Amino acid sequence: MTDLALDAESLRERAVTSLITARDRTTLLTGCVDEPDLTAQHSPLMSPLVWDLAHIGNQEEQWLLRAVAGQEAIRPEIDSLYDAFEHPRSERPRLPLLSPDEARRYAADVRGRALDVLESTAFDGTRLTEAGFAFGMIAQHEQQHDETMLITHQLRKGPQALTAPDPDPVPLFTGPSEVLVPGGPFTMGTSTEPWALDNERPAHRREVPPFWIDTTPVTNAAYLAFIEDGGYDDPRWWTAEGWAHIRRNNVTAPLFWRRDGGQWLRRRFGITEVVPPHEPVLHVCWYEADAYARWAGRRLPTEAEWEKAARHDPAGDRSTRYPWGDADPGPEHANLGQRHLRPAPAGSYPAGESPLGVRQLIGDVWEWTASDFLPYPGFRAFPYREYSEVFFGSDYKVLRGGSFAVDPVACRGTFRNWDYPIRRQIFSGFRTARSEDV
Ligand SMILES: [Fe+2]
Repeated sequence: MTDLALDAESLRERAVTSLITARDRTTLLTGCVDEPDLTAQHSPLMSPLVWDLAHIGNQEEQWLLRAVAGQEAIRPEIDSLYDAFEHPRSERPRLPLLSPDEARRYAADVRGRALDVLESTAFDGTRLTEAGFAFGMIAQHEQQHDETMLITHQLRKGPQALTAPDPDPVPLFTGPSEVLVPGGPFTMGTSTEPWALDNERPAHRREVPPFWIDTTPVTNAAYLAFIEDGGYDDPRWWTAEGWAHIRRNNVTAPLFWRRDGGQWLRRRFGITEVVPPHEPVLHVCWYEADAYARWAGRRLPTEAEWEKAARHDPAGDRSTRYPWGDADPGPEHANLGQRHLRPAPAGSYPAGESPLGVRQLIGDVWEWTASDFLPYPGFRAFPYREYSEVFFGSDYKVLRGGSFAVDPVACRGTFRNWDYPIRRQIFSGFRTARSEDV
């Protein structure tokens, strides 16, 4: 039996486990700093951590208690405070937010009731409860805010608050630097993954001409060669918007990097360290990724190319859930779930490679693609327009594959993330591609 054919009881168990895993991580991220740190705004790009905490509870209340179970609002007066569309992040510290203790109590109260609802809800009723979708959606939502809170931790000044073991060391990767993905149609997106979000649907055929793609994400050492070659001073490598952006904002290296004499240092969760050469480059914006690729005589892969490299199994002409097949991610496959606070060296996780031999597509760093965030043919907004539909268009670029900060419940071969091309506080890196005839 594949994971897609799980029965209702297994899905219910998966929902309980996913909700508990998410809450354990939320508790870790909000419990390792003191009250002033929870209510402070560490960057205008981010909410105070205490906003994320109560917002997690409020979304859970709105979807699981009210929409699924038809319950009355617990605290209707706070809905608007925690509505992400009503208040931009920069405004949130000035709102009359719940205190850290109130936020904790509220989120715990909602969770207790939500687990009761989960026990008593049939998984074959409405579209919202079919296969436990709403519970999976809420677990993914909390994990996505946990990733956001981890970004806040990275932006926060002050001593280290979080610790985690480093990924296992691996021998220097000496395999081929790129892999040929044969041309032809493949199945992109999904119509069967029970907790896939609206923008991943429906499955559809895409024609993709043959192309070469990097075996691993671009490393710090490779990116340093671009810097040392004057990459940030040469407009030839940049789009007009990218060039204007880096000049205006004095962008000369990845975020959190600084030159110290003859070496480059970076700040990572409160510690300063030498930039590790063989680790995938992190905290670059789309413009930087695009410029590097042009300098290297290459380009960013399109979103369809990325997904074909990750999911297409030429042997069976089918698309798998993950590069390694249909099994849920394990620690041998990918660096996910905040087990580590950094990407693993390039070439890690041979058990997670695709049938064609492409590595680290899932986990480690989000990978910028060349593509704008657009709906698939046959897209239908569900359960609300604000999940994806309002973001479609040319303002956002798609990122794929998830990072070390993404939990397995919120990561699939079909999962799509999107952000502005200037963003780099996110855990973003990239790999490059070229058309077969170039
Ligand atoms: Fe949210």
